[in-house]
Amino acid sequence: MRRTEALRSLVRETHLAPDDLVWPLFVRPGKKVRNPVKSMPGVFQLSVDELVEEAQAGFEAGVRSVILFGIPLHKDATGSGAWDEEGEVPQAVRALKRSVPGMVVMTDVCMCEYTDHGHCGVLKVPQAGRPRKAGQGAPEGELSVDNDATLALLAKEAVAHARAGADIVAPSDMMDGRVAAIRKALDEDDYQDVPILSYAAKFAGAFYGPFRDAAESAPVEGPGIPRDRKGYQMDPANWREAVREVALDVQEGADLVMVKPAVPYLDILRVLRDRFELPLAAYHVSGEYAMIKAAAERGWIDEARVMMETLLCIRRAGADLVLTYFARDAAALLTGRRR
Ligand code: PBG
Repeated sequence: MRRTEALRSLVRETHLAPDDLVWPLFVRPGKKVRNPVKSMPGVFQLSVDELVEEAQAGFEAGVRSVILFGIPLHKDATGSGAWDEEGEVPQAVRALKRSVPGMVVMTDVCMCEYTDHGHCGVLKVPQAGRPRKAGQGAPEGELSVDNDATLALLAKEAVAHARAGADIVAPSDMMDGRVAAIRKALDEDDYQDVPILSYAAKFAGAFYGPFRDAAESAPVEGPGIPRDRKGYQMDPANWREAVREVALDVQEGADLVMVKPAVPYLDILRVLRDRFELPLAAYHVSGEYAMIKAAAERGWIDEARVMMETLLCIRRAGADLVLTYFARDAAALLTGRRR
């Protein structure tokens, strides 16, 4: 059954289609801005006008969904730019809905691009007024992310995106209880039909480096500011915890759930696929993209073939949809229309 392509295709178990791909795009203020992201060849920070053209080109290549990340001019301690209805993300959503009406527009809901310290929530002095045991909690003098105080802010951000016309909101902050908080806020604002794609199992690892260049969202170094996101994102060692995280998000009302990164976590995708019926997404993240690009630039691998094999294998492991910076290139290959 492997002798010819016709035979192979007869028994092929997994298929990759442009409809399964979601293209992440970065929007920043200004006009005619198209800043290349150094660590992600082919990826740009775009002003709204350029983003609309980029999305149009993607749509012509077969891409049917995008997810937007905002890079605001102004950052502050609470990330107030996140729920500004005139911010770059709501503006981009409105422009896309006008110019590319067939495109599904998702928005990333998180605080890290909007806070001046770069964390995904507001910071607080931990365990204030409570006696500390030696070795307990964050190191002395270190702030921690205030889970509960962040929930209302995320909910406001999601509502601002929904008001602009977002088709799906996607919280990536990893605060506990945010799906329920966002669901309640959307429902109260009459957006019962806006689904939530929860970044349910998001692991704290080293694969997000290039993204943080693109989104200018790395935690800053400073007195008391936690150096990484290990206090709220998951430990890469844990799969049972991923099952718990997804179960909680499903209970809270998530419509789709996501695993992130993708390739090093294919086992997690498989476990979740076998246990849950909801649509499952995988985020092939910036570091995974950068590694393929870098090796291809050196002529060490065949970029197009590695790209297609990687995306197919993410689908085989259990993902229904794949968020990937390769979305346009892969869609173009799949539809046979090279750009
Ligand atoms: C924001 C967010 C991150 C990514 C998506 N949403 C970065 C982070 O957690 O620091 C990473 C995506 C990528 O690496 O491509 N919280």
